[in-house]
Amino acid sequence: MIKIAPSLLAADFCCLGNEVESLNTTGAYMLHLDIMDGIFVPNISFGYDVVKQLRPRSQLIFDVHLMITDPMKYIDKFIEAGADSITFHYEAVENAEEVLDYIRSKGVAAAMSIKPKTSVEEIAHLLPKMDMFLIMSVEPGFGGQKYMPQATEKIAKAKQYITENGLKTLIQVDGGVNASNIARVYGAGADIAVAGTAVFGKADRALAVKELVETAE
Ligand code: DX5
Ligand code: ZN
Repeated sequence: MIKIAPSLLAADFCCLGNEVESLNTTGAYMLHLDIMDGIFVPNISFGYDVVKQLRPRSQLIFDVHLMITDPMKYIDKFIEAGADSITFHYEAVENAEEVLDYIRSKGVAAAMSIKPKTSVEEIAHLLPKMDMFLIMSVEPGFGGQKYMPQATEKIAKAKQYITENGLKTLIQVDGGVNASNIARVYGAGADIAVAGTAVFGKADRALAVKELVETAE
């Protein structure tokens, strides 16, 4: 069964606490928190104080997706704020292995993401160091974009590498995932689908999550 990670970026920012609470009984697997610095991506979202204040409102795993230039500088802050899992971008760092090791040393899940132009081959050797591998299926920066079909092949490639090498790394896919493509995403080997618009765009979040899971099957 595919796991759904609603992305808060598509929520109503006036009522973030209530929006997070609206997921508590939906069967969503984790909450995806998009952190943007206006430099690594051309958009600014929210920071660790927001994550900290939302933490008591939810029992979901908090996965922080760092779309920032210097993740090492802020990892501790997000862990203190309540992150259970930290995802950074391969393109943002000099030494990805060092960052992965650092995150794991802090006792939280370590995840790395690649933008659409970065190949799976380039990072495959790092997969054993990752608890989760995040494949971007849009250029990071904004919610509500269209799923790039090239992502499907990348999911399949990563899945093959993970299976052949007996790894436990989970594959997560982020960007434009909805009921029209989630079956392809799941079929190619994704374990977790991030869904912003496809969950927060619907009044009934439980139904939205259920429909995504059922359509994937
Ligand atoms: C894009 C973000 C995504 C985005 C997904 O930069 O990383 O998490 O919020 O939103 P949808 O599902 O609407 O594409
Ligand atoms: Zn994201």
